Amino acid sequence: MRKVGIIGVGEYLPKKILTNQRLEKMVDTSDEWITTRTGIKERRLAAKNEATSDLAIQAARRAIKDARLKPQDIDLVIVATITPDSAFPSVACILQDALGIKNAACFDVSAACAGFVYAITIAQQFIACGSYKKALVVGAEVLSSVTDWKDRNTCVLFGDGAGAAVLAQVKSGGILATYLNSDGSKKELLMIYAGGSRMPISRKTLTNRLHYIKMQGNELFKLAVTLMAEVAQTVLKRAGLECKDIDLVIPHQANVRIIMAMAKKLGLPREKIYLNIEKYGNMSSASTATALVEAVKKGRIKKGDIVLLDAFGAGLVWGGCVIKW
Ligand code: UT7
Repeated sequence: MRKVGIIGVGEYLPKKILTNQRLEKMVDTSDEWITTRTGIKERRLAAKNEATSDLAIQAARRAIKDARLKPQDIDLVIVATITPDSAFPSVACILQDALGIKNAACFDVSAACAGFVYAITIAQQFIACGSYKKALVVGAEVLSSVTDWKDRNTCVLFGDGAGAAVLAQVKSGGILATYLNSDGSKKELLMIYAGGSRMPISRKTLTNRLHYIKMQGNELFKLAVTLMAEVAQTVLKRAGLECKDIDLVIPHQANVRIIMAMAKKLGLPREKIYLNIEKYGNMSSASTATALVEAVKKGRIKKGDIVLLDAFGAGLVWGGCVIKW
């Protein structure tokens, strides 16, 4: 099997900023509550004419440039998203057309907040076995389109953004181990009920606001801490490493308290955890993606570093990757 690594990264965050102070005017909440309960201070919102593919295109262009490749070099495009432009075609196909990529397999992955980790893992397998050579993997979301702006339990949490990575064969290092898992029996803890084949959009679903995210935050909180710690332990074991070997953890950014509780369980110090939740909130698949890109761009990840991607989300799904940079 070939060694596979990340050879380029790029991100795109919409310009519009929604602060906690602005949210105080929209629902019964406070900057103090949001900051202490979640760690979020502000989030980005896509413009009215920006769909998920528009964000993905910008992030992908930057990642391909960073990898010193041309769009024509890409032969596999995977977009992790739960907010595609429409049910079909895939965002990956829209991206392919916009970037002028020819002769590539293109598809979307639905694994919510663990979507980027799932997509990286799939791309790694395809390249490792020789089916494809250069993969573009994107985590992109416009969660503001499925957020109920009247529900204070959820609307303070989410944001929009996109992060991308280019994967290819590498001579040394690269992805050392991956781990994916799921538990569909807990699907109702976080879901959108209407808008699919089970419950097509109707006047009734609109009145009952069933086309927006519904979440049982408390239950998810406890599971997230346990499962994200389990991800770290399992994937590190697969890589033949221990927690002390990690240079930086890129966790899914749902809640700073979840992340720090997980870190405590693993005995990881604060400086080994990368956070961007304060600026962007929870962007589902785009959270781990943009956090990885930022950490690379800011020099927090250096050649030879051991990086752990660790994510958890609706499904339930969870997973991680250990990467030697
Ligand atoms: O992305 C992956 C999956 N998602 C997650 O993993 C999210 C996991 N869950 C969480 O991050 C947290 O559970 C939340 C941030 C969603 C909620 O924090 P919490 O500390 O679990 O609060 P809670 O749900 O227990 O609510 C505490 C109180 C409630 O009031 P009462 O019943 O105690 O009077 C809520 O109504 O806080 C109230 N509340 C708010 N107050 C002000 C809930 N949302 C707000 C709000 N502003 N925005």
